[in-house]
Amino acid sequence: MDDLTHILFRLGEQELPQYQPGIPPLIQSTNFYYDSVEDMSEALANEDEIPFYTRGLNPTTEILQKKLAALERTEDCLAFASGSAAVAAAVLVHLKQGDHIVSVENPYSWSGKLFNNFLNRFGVTVTMVDGRDPQNFEQALRENTKIIFLESPNSWTFELQDIKRVAQIAHKHGLISIIDNSYATPLGTQPANLGIGTMVHSATKYIGGHGDAVAGILCSDRKTIRKIFKSEFMTLGGVISPFNAWLLLRGLRTLPLRLERSSNTTMKVVEYLEQHPKIDRVYYPFSPSHPQHQLAKKQMKYGSGQFTLTLKTDQRTHVEAFCNSLKAFRLACSWGSFESLIFPAITLENSQNYGNSQLPINMVRCYVGLDEPETLIKDLEQGLKNI
Ligand SMILES: Cc1ncc(COP(=O)(O)O)c(C=O)c1O
Repeated sequence: MDDLTHILFRLGEQELPQYQPGIPPLIQSTNFYYDSVEDMSEALANEDEIPFYTRGLNPTTEILQKKLAALERTEDCLAFASGSAAVAAAVLVHLKQGDHIVSVENPYSWSGKLFNNFLNRFGVTVTMVDGRDPQNFEQALRENTKIIFLESPNSWTFELQDIKRVAQIAHKHGLISIIDNSYATPLGTQPANLGIGTMVHSATKYIGGHGDAVAGILCSDRKTIRKIFKSEFMTLGGVISPFNAWLLLRGLRTLPLRLERSSNTTMKVVEYLEQHPKIDRVYYPFSPSHPQHQLAKKQMKYGSGQFTLTLKTDQRTHVEAFCNSLKAFRLACSWGSFESLIFPAITLENSQNYGNSQLPINMVRCYVGLDEPETLIKDLEQGLKNI
């Protein structure tokens, strides 16, 4: 080996493992080296257990996957480049042409597009049901149904499904059950304990929690995870980068604190809004006014920071004036991070992808981050004066 190869590619690098860093290492490496053909063959034969190539298994990602599997009370986990990649893999692995899915209505928009615009290209049909009554899932089943898909609470209007009862229906009919557990988080609800087989997350939200990484998580039994690894994970290749896995590990450390803080502040903000004369309605599962409040308390440990309000107006200009005047709440689409955000339904209208939204024009989705409750309430107070 010449000097340059040694200096650029080897020198000093083998000495690092003697230290015990307090933070998990970021192993931003595509490849893993082997000392013999035998070792390399063994790694390749066990690609989901021995790091071989980072599209398969990376040691930093592996730490994250272990933690999420443990939090979700499942045997195993895979981390994806986005929540949508995790949702798609969870669903696709069980499907073939001609199959049928029963999904809760109004899931996250791109899950809805997967069901309504994408899977039909491959001859898969989907029935969407009002998830508030578990019987609706059973009634929609057909001979070719393979999957029941839940998202509790679902997006924008936060209706819940009785997870245990729907899981019982799935078991009774021998069906795969999948839930998008992003809102409740694995600290708030552990659907595996209620009988659900696969949990998916937009880890972009609470799990990351710092607004700096788009990522997805899929937790399930070992057999399902191996099947996904061999097909959707390696073939479609929408895997998380080691750096984003490392950011999520950082985020996880404070997940309980952030969730508690965000939930407590949201309750105060919701209480304030519910008595305000310019507010028509607040949709928040932990508010006693929510029609499924009891179920929410039974299934979820935290109310979390997302809620939706409707303003007492039918005029777009009022909604715009309210939203434009807020300072502590920023206009942006995501949630689950430190920042407080608003997402007015009227912004969907001109979009090619969301233009057919059925949401009323006076609806604004809100997310409460880590700000002081007084700051947020003061901001809303001045904002509502603009209506
Ligand atoms: C409930 C829910 N599920 C899934 C997703 C998709 O996750 P990602 O944006 O990480 O792909 C989102 C994103 O907003 C979401 O809110």
